[in-house]
Amino acid sequence: MEISRGGNSHQSETNLLKKTPEAILPGTPNKLRSAPKCMWLPLARRIRVKLGIYAALRAGTAAAGMKNLSILGSTGSIGCSTLDVVRRHRDRYRVWALVAGRNVTALTEQILEFRPRVAVVATEEAQDQLRTGLRGAGLPPAEWPELGFGPKARVAAACAAEVGFVMSAIVGVAGLEATYEATRLGKTIGLANKEVLVAGGALVTEAARASGAELIPVDSEHNGVHQCLRAGQRQEVVRVILTASGGPFRDRPAEALASVTPQEALNHPTWKMGKRITIDSATLMNKGFEVIEACWLFGLTPAEVEVVIHPQSTVHALVEFKDGSVIAQASATDMRMPIQYALTYPERVLAPVPRLDWGAGRCWEFRPPDTAKFPLLRLAYAAQQAGGSATCALNAADEIAVEAFLEGRLSFPGIAQVVEETLSRVSRRQARSLDEIMEIDREARQTAEAAVGRLGRQEVPRAPEA
Ligand SMILES: NC(=O)c1ccc[n+]([C@@H]2O[C@H](COP(=O)([O-])OP(=O)(O)OC[C@H]3O[C@@H](n4cnc5c(N)ncnc54)[C@H](OP(=O)(O)O)[C@@H]3O)[C@@H](O)[C@H]2O)c1
Repeated sequence: MEISRGGNSHQSETNLLKKTPEAILPGTPNKLRSAPKCMWLPLARRIRVKLGIYAALRAGTAAAGMKNLSILGSTGSIGCSTLDVVRRHRDRYRVWALVAGRNVTALTEQILEFRPRVAVVATEEAQDQLRTGLRGAGLPPAEWPELGFGPKARVAAACAAEVGFVMSAIVGVAGLEATYEATRLGKTIGLANKEVLVAGGALVTEAARASGAELIPVDSEHNGVHQCLRAGQRQEVVRVILTASGGPFRDRPAEALASVTPQEALNHPTWKMGKRITIDSATLMNKGFEVIEACWLFGLTPAEVEVVIHPQSTVHALVEFKDGSVIAQASATDMRMPIQYALTYPERVLAPVPRLDWGAGRCWEFRPPDTAKFPLLRLAYAAQQAGGSATCALNAADEIAVEAFLEGRLSFPGIAQVVEETLSRVSRRQARSLDEIMEIDREARQTAEAAVGRLGRQEVPRAPEA
């Protein structure tokens, strides 16, 4: 299937249309598809057995009805919310693998509570710390999960035959390889890690098409779009509208942005999230990433994805259909709702989230974003339009620039300058493999680091933080 430069014109159908068992079960071994008929079983029982095998295979579990989960980024904001959903639905979900970075204390607690078969951290040092933590917690070694560290172990944890659903919630490009490999195997992916599609959209969506894997968006806006699209056919969609809170600086004059501190930027008005996405929300880079993510997930061109500022963060997305009807998705700002939706789709079950109070008066405001004040949103549209390596470089440059801002080496407006400069310097090409994506990522990081060094030296020292 050909992929257009603006996005993937087929993916929404892959995600949203009902599939045949073969399509849902791309990984079903041939020997099971053609298993010898149990002639001695009465017909009704044979059918029940077949349905049971089908359900178990679909969930990737031994027991029908239970889904085995691999949670990539279990110690982060999305990871912890996912575990909270699991905690409330232990009859449906079993944690097969927990994958974290360096927060060994949180991971130890999660292991004690969820007893996964596999636990993976980022480094060997963190693995040693995890061993010490498990020993200190008094867990007998016979009850420890299999431990691992580094990229290969992340891939193994996501790709285990027993795993049916992978929650992709590592931050940044570090989550790309494991998500890509699990997609290639046809696993169902709950996609929170938007950088996966920003850096490797063509590769990952092509892999999903080939394997039949479903990518169910967890990002609240895309999850909202996914829900709205259930109201019509893909070919009836005119455009998709993603809302943005506008971040903590939406009403601050552009001239005042040079002196904002990391603390101020980390103070998001409506969501509690990890540091990178919080800073990206303040610069509107996050919304730019979401435009790119929407193009890949739903087969749209950048021109078909609009962004509006909606300070209340209650309406997450809207879809306009050909007949002029606009379907909106609204819910409280609690990520457990989209996480649970991804886990239970296409079913809906009771979620432990606050409800909107329709009895209380409320006002919803919508206005266009200021792309002169927040140039990263404009740069994201341009990068997706340009295609090829541009969005991979965009993500890598932003990752470096945000880190530098958080460490006090770069001003807030400097983030956009570093990204713009990196985009103009990194050579454009089409990545055809994960290795090529990682090569572009490395080149963009080096270019961005050099830009941070130059800009950081030029910038007027900022007022010390309170
Ligand atoms: N938070 C939200 O509400 C939200 C909403 C929509 C989309 N998202 C997206 O979801 C992703 C996660 O966001 P978040 O807010 O949950 O971030 P976060 O709180 O910063 O958590 C990031 C997770 O990634 C892990 N990690 C980082 N580097 C790693 C590595 N090299 N190897 C393995 N694990 C690594 C961290 O592990 P340690 O902490 O153990 O180091 C942590 O578990 C991001 O892509 C974000 O854009 C988040």
